[in-house]
Amino acid sequence: MKIIIDTAARSLTTIDGEAQRTCDLYSREAFDTVSLEWVRLGWSLGYYQTFTWCGHPVLQLPDDLIRLQEVICRVRPDVIIETGVFRGGSLLFYATLCQAMGNGRVIGVDIRIEESVRKAIGGHPLAGRIRLVEADSTSHEAVEAVAGMIQPGESVFVFLDSCHTKDHVRRELECYSRLVTPGSYIIAADGVMRDLADVPGGEPQWVSDNPLAAADEFALRHPEFRREPPAPLSSKTTYWPGAWLERVA
Ligand SMILES: C[S@@+](CC[C@H](N)C(=O)[O-])C[C@H]1O[C@@H](n2cnc3c(N)ncnc32)[C@H](O)[C@@H]1O
Repeated sequence: MKIIIDTAARSLTTIDGEAQRTCDLYSREAFDTVSLEWVRLGWSLGYYQTFTWCGHPVLQLPDDLIRLQEVICRVRPDVIIETGVFRGGSLLFYATLCQAMGNGRVIGVDIRIEESVRKAIGGHPLAGRIRLVEADSTSHEAVEAVAGMIQPGESVFVFLDSCHTKDHVRRELECYSRLVTPGSYIIAADGVMRDLADVPGGEPQWVSDNPLAAADEFALRHPEFRREPPAPLSSKTTYWPGAWLERVA
């Protein structure tokens, strides 16, 4: 696709094969088009790998983290579960929010947790709010361990960010959605893979093998969840399109 930005004429034109479309440069439509290309370009350069939370690497787009913070501070869950710990920065991000709200604790599940990550989290002032489970996130062992850490009546928020194949996320959604309480969410992160298949570093199968495809199928099978994206201006300034599933019943 060609994108032509004419700042003098204040227009943006897209040319995709025979299809040509021009819109006002200062419109939401143009913002969506530019944002999607910005996301694709930034991802291919590893932009998301350059951020830390209080010194600990966190592999997220800052726009997404701020939206996540807004929703968590509204929902005020008692328990936040994250699959996919990596270096622990995202766990510390949640724990910081819990500390600020005066409520909540965090459970991180990862198939492999490095000793350095255990030490970093264990020695952190917020360590008391964080628990770790080392196992495949869809294993019986992991799901039972996590479920056993939740007390009756506690509200639960789930963030899925481990293995991003459609099949794995589909299984995670089935395993962890039953723990999500009404008014809270389960998020299947990184559906942006669908849009990255053709950028440097992307893989062709991502067009269909991605977390968004799993979330699409889950939403059809589970009317007790509804799609609820916290994106007031553009749905493209995110790595998590279609990721937000709110439990309504
Ligand atoms: C994208 S990183 C997580 C990033 C982290 N949430 C953050 O924001 O910084 C993915 C993590 O998933 C873990 N992982 C991969 N396959 C897994 C599986 N089957 N079960 C649990 N964790 C898995 C990897 O070890 C890796 O640490």
